[in-house]
Amino acid sequence: MFPVRVLGLTKDFPQGFWRPRPHRAVDGLSFDIPEGGVFGLLGPNGAGKSTTLKLLLDLLRPTAGRAEILGRPAGDVGARQRLGFLPENPTFYDHLTAEELLEYFAGLFGYRGEDRRARAGAALDRVGLGADRRRPLRQYSKGMVQRVGLAQAIVNDPALVILDEPMSGLDPIGRRDVREMILALRDEGRTVLFSSHILSDAEQLCSRVGILAKGRLVAEGTVGELTRHAGGTDVTASDVPTAFVDRAAARVRKTSRIADGRYRFELAPGERPEPFIADLAAAGAALVSVAPVGASLEDAFLHALGNDVRVDDTRGDRSAAS
Ligand SMILES: Nc1ncnc2c1ncn2[C@@H]1O[C@H](COP(=O)(O)OP(=O)(O)O)[C@@H](O)[C@H]1O
Ligand SMILES: [Mg+2]
Repeated sequence: MFPVRVLGLTKDFPQGFWRPRPHRAVDGLSFDIPEGGVFGLLGPNGAGKSTTLKLLLDLLRPTAGRAEILGRPAGDVGARQRLGFLPENPTFYDHLTAEELLEYFAGLFGYRGEDRRARAGAALDRVGLGADRRRPLRQYSKGMVQRVGLAQAIVNDPALVILDEPMSGLDPIGRRDVREMILALRDEGRTVLFSSHILSDAEQLCSRVGILAKGRLVAEGTVGELTRHAGGTDVTASDVPTAFVDRAAARVRKTSRIADGRYRFELAPGERPEPFIADLAAAGAALVSVAPVGASLEDAFLHALGNDVRVDDTRGDRSAAS
């Protein structure tokens, strides 16, 4: 059983009277999320991640297509009982204590009396807020509020946990703590789906990722599959004749001159290095090294967009601008 199935999911938003053509925020998405792993829905701001998650939760109705959660149509009450959700930038009524808030949410799931209190307490312990449970939320830091949100998302012991940008706005320690909590949920056999605009978040966490751009799924698979596809090969050689360097320019992504006659050539992903190496040798150059370039998800993302350029120093800027 796939905890999440999405088929042709599409969402249009009206743009107002003067722009009668609606804006397509999510455009024909289809993917399945297998049971018991961490799935990262990645992409820049405005790509359609939150809209997709809201469609899965039935907070929005699709323009076309459909979504299934835990084997039922999105919005099914039985499926909702086994689902946890952390919205983007959650805010809570801040005169309550964490304990009062969690007991309220446990009550919404039908827990009563001692069971309700125990559920709330266990969820707060899980996110490390056991000692602060009697303090009002207005005294909480941003990271602590995010933990309350996580506690709220797991209070009903869900089989599927959906988290919208769970790490955004947190400091490095807060981010690490959220990462560890996501992995702990996975280790308990739950399926976790989270969104992030920071692609590197996903590399350490996800069994699978889907990359969204302008409402479309441009890549989907394991991190290994996506990055292998995007990684090229570095070939370093010495005694390279300048005539060869000029000729090679059309075949390589990038040429770097290291020293007199010594060059590093970067071959594009999917390009086999053997013919290039044979030509180098035939030109009289000496091979120094051949190394695969470990591509990051950022590279995979650019590759998926057909924008297959390596950007070393400006990586963050490039991904944010696309
Ligand atoms: N309620 C809405 N009404 C109109 N446009 C919306 C609404 N919600 C989102 N959008 C638009 O849909 C696109 C995708 O938004 P969103 O799903 O929030 O992206 P992400 O979460 O990836 O940053 C954006 O262009 C956004 O402006
Ligand atoms: Mg969002």
